[in-house]
Amino acid sequence: MRLIVNGFGVVGQSFAKLLLSRSEDLYRLHGVNPRIVACVDKGGCAVSETGLDLQRLLSTKKLSGTIGVYNPGNHIFDPLRLIEKVDAEILLESTPTNLDNGEPGISNIITAMKSGKHVITVNKGPLALAFPSLIELANYNNVELRFSGTVGGGMPILEFAKRCLRGDSIISFHGILNGTTNYILSKMGEGLTFDEALNDAKHKGYAEATPSLDIDGYDAAAKLVIMANWIMGMKVTIKDINRRGISQVTLSDVKRAHKNGKAIKLIAICDKRQLAVKPTELSYVDPICVDGTLNAVTFSSEYSGNHTIIGHGAGGIPTASAVLRDLIDIRDTIFERRQTADLKSD
Ligand SMILES: NC(=O)c1ccc[n+]([C@@H]2O[C@H](COP(=O)([O-])OP(=O)(O)OC[C@H]3O[C@@H](n4cnc5c(N)ncnc54)[C@H](OP(=O)(O)O)[C@@H]3O)[C@@H](O)[C@H]2O)c1
Repeated sequence: MRLIVNGFGVVGQSFAKLLLSRSEDLYRLHGVNPRIVACVDKGGCAVSETGLDLQRLLSTKKLSGTIGVYNPGNHIFDPLRLIEKVDAEILLESTPTNLDNGEPGISNIITAMKSGKHVITVNKGPLALAFPSLIELANYNNVELRFSGTVGGGMPILEFAKRCLRGDSIISFHGILNGTTNYILSKMGEGLTFDEALNDAKHKGYAEATPSLDIDGYDAAAKLVIMANWIMGMKVTIKDINRRGISQVTLSDVKRAHKNGKAIKLIAICDKRQLAVKPTELSYVDPICVDGTLNAVTFSSEYSGNHTIIGHGAGGIPTASAVLRDLIDIRDTIFERRQTADLKSD
């Protein structure tokens, strides 16, 4: 399968590294042989019809800061035209999350689907702003839109709910969807003030220099949108989420909760009454009351009760493994479609 990779940062490079290290077993175990035929970053693009040399692509990025110098003399740089024109089956969208207007991801995804390409996105911005219409566009163009890596990084949260619980009916779910805020709140549980905990998170590389996306609950809200649409069949966008972040949580709030056997966590919740992200007191014995950068979600289902999934919700390689999962799924879907078409024509 031929891929265009748009965005060659932590996730894009991790995906290239994963392909390099898993090329043999991917073919042996799953019969797939993914090739990156085009790659884009802010500085330019690299293109090869037969597949880019991933080792060279990675070292070019490391040495020059951009893959734009991979093809000497290649000055064509219009990412949308490239997505349209390059012969490939799949676009991997891995540019930064933008929750204001979804760009450049949203235009990349729309262009890919309109030109008949399947899309795997790890960028949650387009989905948070326009999930229902993007799914509609995918269906209209008869292509797949996959997004495992947008929620939980490598943790199969979406698959767990959608596949493992498919004989059941999920009534509600709630959980910790953002590792940065969970880390900060955990550190406050150890006695640090909000500012000290935030600085510690920045120092460890868990928080950005401008951490509003995490602290103000936007990242968790974006993930909640994706889960509510995909798992619960809602048609919502980030505007529908009642969102409150953690910047108003004080050390004395955390200490007071602790005295009552509870911790304060940033919880995303979807039930009959609410679709919200807010700081919430949780009992220490609640299975989702996890610390550090962990994520955890409990699904309440009608027939089989509660199920909790816990894991690390981010990281380049884990997220790249979610991309591979999507890729194998797309291949399986294409295969099934072909078989159905063959049966019909017999
Ligand atoms: N990192 C994680 O653990 C993780 C986990 C799950 C989901 N995600 C999501 O995955 C996406 C990528 O994350 P990341 O950590 O890989 O980010 P990153 O390291 O900042 O990489 C972003 C890449 O996008 C490129 N880019 C930025 N603007 C662009 C534009 N207009 N056109 C083309 N390329 C552009 C950047 O180019 P330059 O290299 O030239 O700057 C860079 O290569 C984000 O949406 C993020 O929310 C990340």
